[in-house]
Amino acid sequence: MLIAHISDLHCGSRAGFNPESLDLAITEINELMPDVVVVTGDITHNGFLSDYRLAVKYIEKIKCERKIIGSGNHDYRSTGYLLYRRYFQKPHILEVENSIIVYLSTARPDRDEGEAGYRQIQWLGKILDRFKDRFKIVALHHHLVPIPDTGLERNTVIDAGDVIRTITQHNVNLVLCGHRHRPWSLNMGNSLIINAGTVSSERFRGFFANSYNVIEVEGNKIDARLKVVGGRTMDFKELLTEREPFIP
Ligand SMILES: [Fe+2]
Ligand SMILES: [Fe+2]
Repeated sequence: MLIAHISDLHCGSRAGFNPESLDLAITEINELMPDVVVVTGDITHNGFLSDYRLAVKYIEKIKCERKIIGSGNHDYRSTGYLLYRRYFQKPHILEVENSIIVYLSTARPDRDEGEAGYRQIQWLGKILDRFKDRFKIVALHHHLVPIPDTGLERNTVIDAGDVIRTITQHNVNLVLCGHRHRPWSLNMGNSLIINAGTVSSERFRGFFANSYNVIEVEGNKIDARLKVVGGRTMDFKELLTEREPFIP
C-alpha cells in the first residue's frame, strides 16, 4: 500500500499560501498513483468560504479514489467548522487493503491547541478493538509529542497522554500528524509517529522547504520517506541525524 501524506495546505488568498508549490506537489503525487491520500488538516488558512472553495479545487485535482481529508485548527477559525462539515466531513474511517485508517479530530473552534476529548478517545479504542488484526493507522492534525526547532511548545494535544495510551495499548502501527510545519519522526512503543511538514505554506519551522511524505506499507513493514516539493527524496533517518537546517 502506498500512502501520500500531505498536510498544512493553508489555502487562502494571502498569508504565505504558495499555490505553485501545491500544484507541483499534486502533479508529483498523481504520478506516484498512491492507494490512499491522507491530509492531516489546515486545508485552509482562515476557514473562510473563499478558502474552502479554493481548497476544494485543489483536493479535486488529486487523482486518488481514497482520500481522508482531516481538519486542522485553521479550518475551524471564523466558524469554518461549519464549512468543513459541508465540504470535507466524510469519511473518518477508511479501510484500504489490510489496513484501517482512522482520523481523530483534534481541532476546536477558535483554538490553536488540540484536544481529542474523552468520548472520541473511547470511540477510537472501540474502533481499534474492532480492527485489531489489521495494520492500524491513526491520523490527526496536532502533534502528539513535541517537535524540535519549532519554538515555544504550546500547541500539542492537551489530552495527548490519554491518546498515546490508547495508541500504545492497541498497538497502532503508524501515527500521522501535521500542524507544526516541521517534518519529523519518532518511535513510540510499537508505533511509528510521522509528522508532516507543510506542503504549500511559506510559514516554515526549522525545515525551510515545502514537503510531503510518501509511505510504503508492506505487511507490517513501513518505509517512510520525505519528499521535498520539486526536490529530492529524503530518508527520515537522514532528517533525524542532520545537524544543519534544510534550506534548498
Ligand atoms: Fe498549519
Ligand atoms: Fe495547525
